[in-house]
Amino acid sequence: HKKVEKICCIGAGYVGGPTCAVIAAKNPHIQVTIVDLNADRIAAWNSDKLPIYEPGLDEVVRSCRGRNLFFSTDVDKAIIEADLIFVSVNTPTKTKGQGAGYAADLGYVESATRHIAKVAQGDKIVVEKSTVPCRTAQSMRFILEANARPGIHFDILSNPEFLAEGTAIADLTNPDRVLIGSLNTPAGRSAAASLADVYAGWVDRQQIITMNLWSSELSKLAANALLAQRISSINALSAICEATGADVDEVSYACGLDQRIGKRFLKASVGFGGSCFQKDILNLVYLSESLHLPEVAAYWRQVVEMNEYQKKRFLNRIISCLFNTLTGKKIAILGFAFKKDTGDTRESAAITLCKYLRQERANVSIYDPEVEERQIWMDLAEPGVQDERKELEKQFTIAPSALEACKGADAVVVCTEWDEFRNSKLDYKKVYAEMNKPAFIFDGRLILDQKELEEIGFHVEMIGRPRSNFQTPKDWE
Ligand code: NAI
Repeated sequence: HKKVEKICCIGAGYVGGPTCAVIAAKNPHIQVTIVDLNADRIAAWNSDKLPIYEPGLDEVVRSCRGRNLFFSTDVDKAIIEADLIFVSVNTPTKTKGQGAGYAADLGYVESATRHIAKVAQGDKIVVEKSTVPCRTAQSMRFILEANARPGIHFDILSNPEFLAEGTAIADLTNPDRVLIGSLNTPAGRSAAASLADVYAGWVDRQQIITMNLWSSELSKLAANALLAQRISSINALSAICEATGADVDEVSYACGLDQRIGKRFLKASVGFGGSCFQKDILNLVYLSESLHLPEVAAYWRQVVEMNEYQKKRFLNRIISCLFNTLTGKKIAILGFAFKKDTGDTRESAAITLCKYLRQERANVSIYDPEVEERQIWMDLAEPGVQDERKELEKQFTIAPSALEACKGADAVVVCTEWDEFRNSKLDYKKVYAEMNKPAFIFDGRLILDQKELEEIGFHVEMIGRPRSNFQTPKDWE
């Protein structure tokens, strides 16, 4: 099979950037060019402040940028030069038309594919890196073959990415597995072997698995559905814990010791976020429905519904603890990213919560160590509403530190599990001293030490633990 010498990656996002930077770092003999239509994003990749925050990413990029790693807006040139092209563009949920709210919008994948067909002057291996519905490779092949110059041959591979934001570099350098799907033809197998060689630059051959294209495509949707389902399962149990006096961390611990269940990814929270889980499950729901499998669709849809329910339930708890009204009260939101160690806010539970708080007419002060202010304002705005910023500013402020956000607040709400919000890192005595009394803390991530905070004087409300019965004075019980 062919040795890959030049790689092009279309899409310099959360996946294309880190993935291809690691490929370049581990394969100094391969030239890797990451391209994007978004010139600002490319300029940022070429600057000292990379467009995404990810621990360890700066070092990787610095080690090979300008050597064998390049970021460019010249898509044509990169396609023409490359033997292998990753398509790593966004595949958001459709917002309009057929399948709106469920189906993946494949417009970006199609347009990247057409671009490849239009400019390619020689044979290419085209790799689906984006998460796509099962059988997308077939459409890509059809488009490529219908538009290519005569005599050019394309091989299509599926190579879904399993990295998690916040740990992308660690996940990429030490993956559980690398998955490559191909047609079971000599050409398909040979293309898969070429891609496998690229990963073998640092990944054990045994962890590079190959299978048929459709299994590979579906495995990515399946993996995300299974992961999200674990979170919704433990969150469903957290509701029972709150009502009965059980403690969800203890339940999770007890269950997780069973090796068939396993302890990872069983942490209750205010709800999962991120650009992928919801989108990919909805995509699976849509696929199931198109295949006339309504029971299967309903089963997976419930995972997303439980997640919405969890956010709403958390809000209801805040309202009811704060004497059934939030009007004019100050709520400090600690953490706006969808999880720690990323600046990404896509589908973050904090956004939903802030929108609810807006309806309750609360004053909200937000602090996050990595999310840009600009991004927070964008996330708070309703799509299509003009001049909303002034309106938003009446209720929302963005604070430069956690302490600042909590000043004068009636309640502190931990939305993201950033280490700096832990008891050991944040001076909660100071936080308490500067808050309105009674001072409430709602821990949506189960990172706080309840007892210690109660000793300071806080009323502490943890997901998956019963409500503290502070409102009933002792002699009324
Ligand atoms: P992103 O939105 O951060 O990046 C996509 C980039 O592609 C954008 O910068 C966009 O300008 C560019 N683009 C779109 N069409 C283009 C075209 N025709 N030519 C050149 N550039 C183009 O998206 P992200 O998060 O990197 O996701 C990409 C894919 O990877 C999605 O399908 C996603 O489901 C999947 N994925 C994402 C993971 C994550 O943690 N974010 C993890 C695993 C998979």
